[in-house]
Amino acid sequence: MKFVVLTDTHFVARGRRIYGLDPAERLSAAVARINREHPDIAFVIVTGDLAHWGEEPAYDNLASVLAGLRAPTMLMMGNHDKREAFAKFFPGVPRDANGFVQTMQVFEAATIVTLDTLNEAAPDHSGLLCDARLAFLEHALAEAPADRPLLLFQHHPPFDTGLRYMDTIRLANPDAEWEVIARTRTPDYLFMGHLHRPISGVWRGIPYHIQRGLAHQVAFDLVAEGHIPGSHEPPDYAHVSVEADRIVIHQCSFMYDGPLFSLHDSVALHRVSF
Ligand SMILES: [Fe+2]
Repeated sequence: MKFVVLTDTHFVARGRRIYGLDPAERLSAAVARINREHPDIAFVIVTGDLAHWGEEPAYDNLASVLAGLRAPTMLMMGNHDKREAFAKFFPGVPRDANGFVQTMQVFEAATIVTLDTLNEAAPDHSGLLCDARLAFLEHALAEAPADRPLLLFQHHPPFDTGLRYMDTIRLANPDAEWEVIARTRTPDYLFMGHLHRPISGVWRGIPYHIQRGLAHQVAFDLVAEGHIPGSHEPPDYAHVSVEADRIVIHQCSFMYDGPLFSLHDSVALHRVSF
């Protein structure tokens, strides 16, 4: 199974920009590239912060751009989202019995579990898994087929990464999530957004991948505190393939418009410049 991961699209109303960037322009470029080069993917998943201010015109704008995508989408909530405004423009997105935007979807190659870590009551943008959402996670981990990998997706990381301000707005109750995992099943892979940087590692034995954002980026700065350092580093989407013995994650810098050449081309090898 193959799929694409995008995150932190931070959409605004049509024609508006944010930190000098137009998220619709960037997502349109990603959609065109995905349609052209990945016709065999099962879905595109966007791991939250769909809209920057969570307002209806932003979700309207997002819906019109995603309408151009040929693959099905899975859309998740991030700290900038608003569930009710989102639902008006994405009425078909499944919710759990308590209204949270989280699902378990079983594919032949893997089970996909998405969590809704949005805490709309948190002014600081930290995430939360309340008792109802922890119960959903426990049920999903217990009921997922044992014969295939389980990939867990959530917006907020449940651990510190050294990005100092971002560490203050991670998932607020990681121990509660871990307790559920420890007594049911360990996911085979954990995918997240929120940090607007490409980060990978292992959390309590679970390999994880944090996707670079689609819109503005968080700068690689492990010193700054009290604010979030930003940058205009180009965005990526991840192309993920899941096979019986491996998971492979490639990053595609879909806005790159520089030279493309063969490393076997002796003319290119000796060129002074392109
Ligand atoms: Fe974000």
